Amino acid sequence: RTLDSWLFLFLDLCVPVGLTGTKLGCAEGGCGACTVMLSKYQPTSSPLGEWVSGPLCSLHHCAVTTVEGIGSVAGKLHPVQERMPKSHGSQCGFCTPGIVMSSMLCSGTTLHPAMAGHRGGDSKVNFGVKLVGVATVSVCKTVITNAACSSLHPADFLPLDPTQEIIFPPELMVDTLTHQHTRGVNTNTYLTPSLSVYLFHYLSVHHSLCIEMKFKNLLYPVILAPGYIPELNTIQHTDEGIVFGASCSLTLLGDVLKAAVGKLPPYQTEVFNAVLEQLRWFAGLQIRNVAAIGGNIMTASPISDLNPVFMASGCKLTLMSKGGERVVVMDEKFFPGYRKTILTPEEVLLCVLIPYTKKGQYFAAYKQSPRREDDISIVTSGMSVTFAEGSTIVKHLALSYGGMAATTVMAKNTASRLLGKQWGEELLQDACSSLAEEMTLHPSAPGGMVTYRRTLTLSLFYKFYLTVQQKLGAYIEGVRADYISATEIYHQTSPSSVQIFQAVPDGQKEEDVVGRPMMHLSALKQATGEAVYCDDIPLYENELYLCLITSTKAHATIQSIDTAEAESMPGVVTCVFAKDVPGSNMTGPIVYDETVLADATVTCVGHIIGAVVADTQAHAQRAAKAVRITYQELQPVIITIQDAITHQSFFQPVRTIQRGDLDQGFTQADHILEGEMHMGGQEHFYLETNVTVAVPKGEDGEMELFVSTQSATKTQSLVAKALGVPASRVVIRVKRMGGGFGGKESRSTTLSTMVAVAAQKPVRCMLDRDEDMLVTGGRHPFYGRYKVGFMKSGKVVALEVTYYSNAGNSMDLSLSIMERALFHMENSYSIATIRGRGYVCKTHLPSNTAFRGFGGPQGMLIAESWMSDVALSLGLPAEQVRRLNMYIQGERTPYSQILDHITLDRCWDQCLEISSFTQRRCHDVLCVFRDHRWTKRGLSVVPTKFGISFTAAFLNQAGALAHIYTDGSVLLTHGGTEMGQGLNTKMVQVASRTLGIPSSKIHITETSTNTVPNTSPTAASASSDLNGAAVHNACEILLHRLEPYKTKNPKGCWEDWVSTCQSYTVLFLIGWTPDLGYDFETNTGRPFNYFSYGVACSEVEIDCLTGSHKNIHTSIVIDVGNSLNPALDIGQVEGGFMQGVGLYTLEELKYSPEGYLFTRGPGMYKIPAFGDIPTDLTVSLLRDAPNDKAIFSSKAIGEPPLFLAASVFFAIKDAIIAARKESGLSGPFRLDSPATPERIRNACEDRFTKLCPPAEPGTFTPWAVVV
Ligand SMILES: Cc1cc2nc3c(=O)[nH]c(=O)nc-3n(C[C@H](O)[C@H](O)[C@H](O)COP(=O)(O)OP(=O)(O)OC[C@H]3O[C@@H](n4cnc5c(N)ncnc54)[C@H](O)[C@@H]3O)c2cc1C
Ligand code: FES
Repeated sequence: RTLDSWLFLFLDLCVPVGLTGTKLGCAEGGCGACTVMLSKYQPTSSPLGEWVSGPLCSLHHCAVTTVEGIGSVAGKLHPVQERMPKSHGSQCGFCTPGIVMSSMLCSGTTLHPAMAGHRGGDSKVNFGVKLVGVATVSVCKTVITNAACSSLHPADFLPLDPTQEIIFPPELMVDTLTHQHTRGVNTNTYLTPSLSVYLFHYLSVHHSLCIEMKFKNLLYPVILAPGYIPELNTIQHTDEGIVFGASCSLTLLGDVLKAAVGKLPPYQTEVFNAVLEQLRWFAGLQIRNVAAIGGNIMTASPISDLNPVFMASGCKLTLMSKGGERVVVMDEKFFPGYRKTILTPEEVLLCVLIPYTKKGQYFAAYKQSPRREDDISIVTSGMSVTFAEGSTIVKHLALSYGGMAATTVMAKNTASRLLGKQWGEELLQDACSSLAEEMTLHPSAPGGMVTYRRTLTLSLFYKFYLTVQQKLGAYIEGVRADYISATEIYHQTSPSSVQIFQAVPDGQKEEDVVGRPMMHLSALKQATGEAVYCDDIPLYENELYLCLITSTKAHATIQSIDTAEAESMPGVVTCVFAKDVPGSNMTGPIVYDETVLADATVTCVGHIIGAVVADTQAHAQRAAKAVRITYQELQPVIITIQDAITHQSFFQPVRTIQRGDLDQGFTQADHILEGEMHMGGQEHFYLETNVTVAVPKGEDGEMELFVSTQSATKTQSLVAKALGVPASRVVIRVKRMGGGFGGKESRSTTLSTMVAVAAQKPVRCMLDRDEDMLVTGGRHPFYGRYKVGFMKSGKVVALEVTYYSNAGNSMDLSLSIMERALFHMENSYSIATIRGRGYVCKTHLPSNTAFRGFGGPQGMLIAESWMSDVALSLGLPAEQVRRLNMYIQGERTPYSQILDHITLDRCWDQCLEISSFTQRRCHDVLCVFRDHRWTKRGLSVVPTKFGISFTAAFLNQAGALAHIYTDGSVLLTHGGTEMGQGLNTKMVQVASRTLGIPSSKIHITETSTNTVPNTSPTAASASSDLNGAAVHNACEILLHRLEPYKTKNPKGCWEDWVSTCQSYTVLFLIGWTPDLGYDFETNTGRPFNYFSYGVACSEVEIDCLTGSHKNIHTSIVIDVGNSLNPALDIGQVEGGFMQGVGLYTLEELKYSPEGYLFTRGPGMYKIPAFGDIPTDLTVSLLRDAPNDKAIFSSKAIGEPPLFLAASVFFAIKDAIIAARKESGLSGPFRLDSPATPERIRNACEDRFTKLCPPAEPGTFTPWAVVV
């Protein structure tokens, strides 16, 4: 319809032709969901096409292969599409096509050997693990049942059929490219084989420009594709080095340098190796395939990974204009300012010479980023030293840093100060004090982490110093043995994992699938892209698109709204504001304390004020940006928990749970210790963002909505309220979600009600990733203060803890979340006298909400913090103190619930055994790494006890509807929603066993409010328990009805009975958990139906100089009762654990002091990547642990495993303790969550941190605040 968004392959190629497999997860090259193969003939290099992917404009003369092009369920699956689901590697499936295509990208057309017969990809990707970087999918899985050890064998899969090889389209091999000019609405695009044409226009595009056009709303009138210009793509080997045309891709750069390193003497290739090292951690393969060396230089990013290398090595750049060529050395003058180069507007970068190194010259490059894989740098550097011949006297030194200023900079003063000095300790000291002076940053510097960044400049130099010293071993005394590890280059080891579960009992019928590792029912469709998600629903005729208008102020009154410009823009149909809401503008999941659309006042950045409705997404989005709003800012602006405490800004009530006389408890204690901890929030990062399609039915106010939500009923009631119609007129339909994690329990309703209000015709809105992150809120940040009384043995006798959560601008589910934090304040420990109090802080942030664990992970992390403090202050092993305090059978929780059938001790003992805990402690941690000064190993074992039930008692119910058709097929519907957790698969298993028919006869199509009404949200880990009970009830009653027909025809089969049954087939029944409910006033009642238990042991390794860490090992033993489906349950354990790893070690939401969220996409917000999975991971489901309180003796699984990732956090803390010992520090210290490289490095105090002290708080305004 328009060429406006021509740059986006996804929007402009896939959507119009109905190819739904390619998904848009982020639109910034950071998630991989949009990966496709692009085949392009390059006559100048290889005769075969290269595999590239991602959003590209230069599709001319290319073949594009999407996931639909490699296989289908009805036709034939490609082996990658078959292996991933059969190995249980697909859960919500939204990203599965992206992973399939990424795997193809890595392996070419043939299968990666590691995938043949083993599990490819990873089930956790849908639970927070990133897709890009799936470079070597070599996850080897061993599955152990109680019968034997069995692996997935190649024979389990179809053999590779040669006809499935994707051939390079021969028609592309005709070199017919001529000048192409595409005229767009706002942009003219040129593909040209001629550099002279290029010189007249000067602008290029790959993905960077796409991103700028999207996120910065920039328009470029002229765009050229330099990838087609031969002069910009040549490679020459000269006497000085290798010359790369500016448009050579980074992949090509890497390939050529690797070949040179293989051929040339090592002394010549020091710079080449440094470039290769930087490329190893540079973006994902998809990006490296399309990003060009010249693009990276010319972007002039202050955190470019290559520019410091090019600068320190003195690369030469050839610039060209109509007037001719000139050659410049890339030195400190090349970048005169932020995002500026010395090129004149008439010039282009023609090529880059990367020089050989000479004898006596040493070179290294370093990159430090929040996450190891595919992340942008915090600080990056290139370092070169040349010694006077036959000596270690410095003749030339170049130190270049990125991330320390608005441009890549060189430490000129330090370099000149060290000239003529001997490479030794004295030089090191001089270098460090000089760098500390020269590489300064203002405490308010953009990007924050000021102390850390300054320390890194010293730490990285120290690594360089040691590396060179090591290489100089022949000349001077080598590196001290205990310092060697600081010079090691990080290499990733292929991960392996083991899953252990109990086989079904001997004699269980073959067709009884309960307890068997049955594949997720939608997995094959997910791998081929055929699974239908909300936004895959075909466009309705005259369908419109909606884009939100949101507040840019945290607390203000709206003075005026001017829509004149927006309304005059092409395609715009209407703008919608609070006055247009036909029913009630007040909304909220429990209390109606929010507006559908802001009315007069805004209370957070991202507050939804209105929307633009237009014919296309591009038109709606562009017009929304043209709406002008003026504000009158209000005070106070409360952003952080500390602000809320200062202003006493709390939602009511303040909750307390108390048992025993606290004063008496503390009097008994041998020691009393006080401490505090902050734990950051978390973005849900479901791969499918919030989406709603609203279709008015044209009579009686009826409306049908297709929504990605965990709460069909809540959506129905809030939409009806906003429309001013009875709930019976509104139908909500949910087929499946691309992940939810709690984020679509209540916050999804803000979008659905908005879209419904605007829907005079069918209206659709799927939020872009940045919008979703901005408006929907996430996990609550928590701050805890504690006072703990304990005996010399480590036994805790008294605890007083106060929690503060950052709820944001509305109540949402925050009170229940605080209650669950309090219910988990003692984690798994028995404490005689205890008081927990919880304050829910009201701030000017978007409302925070449910997130897997629902306050439990916050409450328990703070518990483990005081437990770790107790052990540290007594000098006892933490595991000893934890074990001593652990609950035993029959004890009571602080809220007086008796713990029967407790399996904590069994989980603990088995976990220690399978993790070889004692050997690890003695060998790795105490022996080997004690002798490493700059790398330390840490080990920790952490238990969890998680209460299962909605704490709001009335929610503990579910419904099911079963139809048996006369052909014997069964259509099942229940109240839960499928978001990847495999609920539908488990419900089919339950129905199959109950009805005694094969699971293939049972089908679930969707969840809808007109089939099963008044349902609870799919949340609290309780959906299998509740819906399973309802399905079981429904099926049993149907069986009862069939009984007479069975009796009449005992030799008949299922089809015979159902075809003759007259009173058949429809039934609705409720599943329900009785006797639940707790009263905070009297501390009486029973909040939970039962508890899930688990224990994890993790080992990590930290780099004390950079703060990076590696997850070496994790063993998990978890009690899931008699598992309904061990494959799905293990998937939940692994996924939940990895999401917890993100929460506790990686993911950081960064807000400005004014409440503006900086982290709005995968570029800045890092969730775990494949490389963050522990190299060695074992998950064992506790055997012989039936649970008499849930369906078929199973237990809930969704939330309990998440907290087990705290074992990684405390293993990191254990390693830091060892590092601090080297500096003579002992005793408790504060480590907030997440344990990011910044926090780890700052806690490992040493001579370098001392040279970079933090600025005095209160003397500056920080770039970002801890909320
Ligand atoms: C997901 C993602 C991850 C990333 N990760 C990293 C990372 O880890 N490390 C890192 O350093 N960077 C990273 N980047 C940035 C990336 O390196 C740059 O975006 C990329 O190198 C730009 O190359 P390009 O060919 O796409 O440039 P383009 O987008 O084509 O161009 C960038 C700019 O350079 C100009 N230009 C291009 N070629 C020439 C020429 N020959 N002469 C004059 N001007 C020219 C263009 O006009 C434009 O202004 C990442 C980017 C993304 C999207
Ligand atoms: S949508 Fe393309 S990488 Fe995320």
